[in-house]
Amino acid sequence: MKGTTPEGARDEQEAAHWVRGMFARVAHRYDLANHLLSFNIDRHWRRHTVRRVRPVLEQPGARVLDICCGTGDLALALERGRRGMVFGSDFCHPMLDAARRKAERREARLALFEADALRLPVRDSSFDLVTVAFGFRNLANYAAGLDEMRRILRPGGMAAILEFSEPPGRAFASLYHFYSRRMLPWIGGALSGSRDAYTYLPESVRRFPRAGELADDMRRAGFRNVGYEYLTGGIVALHMGTA
Ligand SMILES: C[S@@+](CC[C@H](N)C(=O)[O-])C[C@H]1O[C@@H](n2cnc3c(N)ncnc32)[C@H](O)[C@@H]1O
Repeated sequence: MKGTTPEGARDEQEAAHWVRGMFARVAHRYDLANHLLSFNIDRHWRRHTVRRVRPVLEQPGARVLDICCGTGDLALALERGRRGMVFGSDFCHPMLDAARRKAERREARLALFEADALRLPVRDSSFDLVTVAFGFRNLANYAAGLDEMRRILRPGGMAAILEFSEPPGRAFASLYHFYSRRMLPWIGGALSGSRDAYTYLPESVRRFPRAGELADDMRRAGFRNVGYEYLTGGIVALHMGTA
């Protein structure tokens, strides 16, 4: 378990630099590409996550942070589910700008700040819920990402990681691999103007720990009650754990 390794990156700093630059290049088309390439199922994945964390959202005064929030879709869904303020952070300025514009249009109570998920400018034990959707896989060091999430959660606080995974069924996995490795780079490249972003995506999923391994890593990082569920045949997995 280390972290994402884009081609050509020689260390964690270079990996993070590459990831930030890649998201900056696709930020203007990120939402469109996301919804089209997933046939809009990504909205369902985020709504499902909100349902799963509802017990915390409903706690009066609960503090909620969505890290790697990108253009803000999960943070906005959490805000709607909570009917209250939600914090969101990301280290890519153009993605955060898009989130800010969207939050303003919807009059949503999002407090957004620019920060690296591996070094959050946040005190220990200050959140009741930390979420991350499709961002964790991009971290340059997964163990450090888990440690940071646990550090900022109060004891008993909840972590939820929504991330692409490897479908466990072989027939479905073959179909999915054909789509993600052969078709997605072309379609994603045409939509966003950046083919390398959509070549990196299936490659980073292939290298990412399997769902059971990520659950073990969460336990090793000190999370309790760790569990996960597959969504849409295992294309995506939602991991949850208590700090
Ligand atoms: C695939 S997007 C997901 C955005 C959003 N969470 C969603 O569900 O659509 C991944 C986001 O993670 C951010 N990210 C990746 N590594 C990060 C890091 N180390 N610190 C902060 N943000 C990071 C990227 O800038 C990008 O906005």
